[in-house]
Amino acid sequence: MSFSLKNLHAHFVAEASPVDLRQVADEDALSEIRSALDEYAVLVFHEQPFSAQEQMAFAQRLDGELHTKTGISALQKNRFGTEAIADISNVDESGAIIAPDDRRRIYNLANRLWHTDASFQDPGGRYSMLSAKLIPPVAADTEFADMRAAYDALDDEMKARLEGLIVHHSIAYSREILGFEFSENESAALEGACHPLIRRLPHTGRKSLYVASHATKIIGWPIPEGRLLLRDLIEHATQRKFVYRHTWQVDDFVIWDNRATMHRGLAFDDTKYRRELRRVTTLDINVRWGSRTPRHF
Ligand code: OGA
Ligand code: MN
Repeated sequence: MSFSLKNLHAHFVAEASPVDLRQVADEDALSEIRSALDEYAVLVFHEQPFSAQEQMAFAQRLDGELHTKTGISALQKNRFGTEAIADISNVDESGAIIAPDDRRRIYNLANRLWHTDASFQDPGGRYSMLSAKLIPPVAADTEFADMRAAYDALDDEMKARLEGLIVHHSIAYSREILGFEFSENESAALEGACHPLIRRLPHTGRKSLYVASHATKIIGWPIPEGRLLLRDLIEHATQRKFVYRHTWQVDDFVIWDNRATMHRGLAFDDTKYRRELRRVTTLDINVRWGSRTPRHF
C-alpha cells in the first residue's frame, strides 16, 4: 500500500495520505489508485506540485490516452500549447483577469452548472484530474455529486423506466441555457454525442446516472418530456446528501471518475480574484458506442 485513504463523505470521496504522484509509476501503485477510484469516485491528494508536463505524464500512466476535445478550443485560452490541458482559470494568456463581458468568461461560466466532463463527445471523459495552482482568498469551491448513490436511491419503478434510455449531449446546450450565442463556425463543432442514461460501471458492477447540463434530450421522446425527466434526475442527484464540497488549497490534485459523478464550480468574485487550475481528462475509450449515431433522431 503506497498510501492510505480517509473517507470525506458518507457515500464517496477519499483523501489520500501524503504521497508524491510524480514518483508513482509502478503498476501496483497505479492499480491501487484505479481501484480506489472504483470505490470512491473522487480522490483528493494534497501537495502535488505538478508541472503541466508532469500532470499529463501522470494521467497517461494512470489511464492511457488524454482527451483533447473537452471544450471548444477557439473559445478557450490555453497557455500550455496543448489541447490536452484545459486551462481552468479566469486569466488570459498574459495572466490578467478576463474582463466581465469577455466571451471566454461567459463560455467558462457554464462550469457552474452541474456537468460531467466531455459527455458531449464520444468517447467522453473517464477520469478528470484537476490541479490547483492559484486559489483566491475567498471560497471558490467545487462540488461533486455521487451518481451511483443517486441511482441506488431511485425507486424500482423509476429504475425500470430509465433502463435502456439514450441521451443526446451537446456543449451548445449547456452554454445556450446561460444565453451564450455561438457563431456559425463554432456551431459546426457542436454536433454532440449520445450515451446511455444508465451506465454499469466496470469492476464494481454498480450502476450510475449519466446526466449533465449538456444533456439535451432523450432519444425517441418528445423533447419537453425528456428535458423534464433530465431536470428531475439532476435535481434528485444533487440533493445535499449526495454532494461533497471541495475547498481548494494550492497544489491540491483531485481525480474524479466522470462516469460516476457530476461536478460544478461554485460562484465567487471572478472579476476580482485570480483562480488558476489545470485539468487533464482521459478518454473513456472502452465506450465507443454511439459514435456512428446520426445527429438528428
Ligand atoms: C473542470 C470544472 C469546476 C471548477 O475543471 O472540469 O468543471 O470549480 N471545474 O473549476
Ligand atoms: Mn468540468
